[in-house]
Amino acid sequence: MLTIEHLNKTYPGGKVAVRDLSITVEDGDLFGFIGHNGAGKTTTIKASVGILPFESGSIHIDGHSVAKDPVTCKKLLAYLPDDPQLYDALTGIQYINFIADIFRVSSEDRRQRTMKYAEMFELDGSLNTPISSFSHGMKQKLALISALIHTPRLLILDEPFVGLDPKAAFTVKTIMKEFCAEGNAIFFSTHVLEVAEKLCNKIAIIKNGELIACGPIDEIRGRQSLEEVFLELTENA
Ligand SMILES: Nc1ncnc2c1ncn2[C@@H]1O[C@H](COP(=O)(O)OP(=O)(O)O)[C@@H](O)[C@H]1O
Ligand SMILES: [Mg+2]
Repeated sequence: MLTIEHLNKTYPGGKVAVRDLSITVEDGDLFGFIGHNGAGKTTTIKASVGILPFESGSIHIDGHSVAKDPVTCKKLLAYLPDDPQLYDALTGIQYINFIADIFRVSSEDRRQRTMKYAEMFELDGSLNTPISSFSHGMKQKLALISALIHTPRLLILDEPFVGLDPKAAFTVKTIMKEFCAEGNAIFFSTHVLEVAEKLCNKIAIIKNGELIACGPIDEIRGRQSLEEVFLELTENA
């Protein structure tokens, strides 16, 4: 579903953010991407969704090159940035309709999906108010509903749990599990190890732009907790 091969990214000014990174996310995977602040998670994610150019390596979504066939890739995926920038002047429902129009989602489909997710997030009472009055958590929820509106096959989420209250975080986890159980895939970054440990079937650990572990979580963990493994790996590597 998502294949990153030998990705290299150096920012102007010479900072090497990602070095020779390869990750494969398969159908049904709930894949966690773990690393300290500044490790290179957001860089990898932005390259994967086609909004950040890179010098070498390749990224494919369901066999399509992100660099050569970006529109096909964007139809297949949805991306939730770490700090979603929405349009303050629009109401919640206007924003959802705007995104649904771009992806040509039928009015019946968008109505059903909006109802389902807005109810789960208890956002249904606020959809007619302007986004300027939304809290950070409400914006995150609205951005996730909009991301799901065109039924993508791959969800790429950058730190989706930051700023969410426990109830909203629980709902996001429920949606993520349901999405992958239907055969879709999720690749998401987090620095919250407990979330990755409970939620993911596979993880990758990145340090200073390099992958230091990748694979099924049970294999990486062995008999230790993910926290122990993470601390060991990130100290020694
Ligand atoms: N636009 C940029 N220009 C220069 N350096 C950047 C830029 N964005 C990120 N970096 C650097 O690249 C490295 C990786 O950053 P990032 O991918 O945001 O890490 P993470 O998401 O894991 O916290 C960091 O050292 C960061 O300072
Ligand atoms: Mg980041």
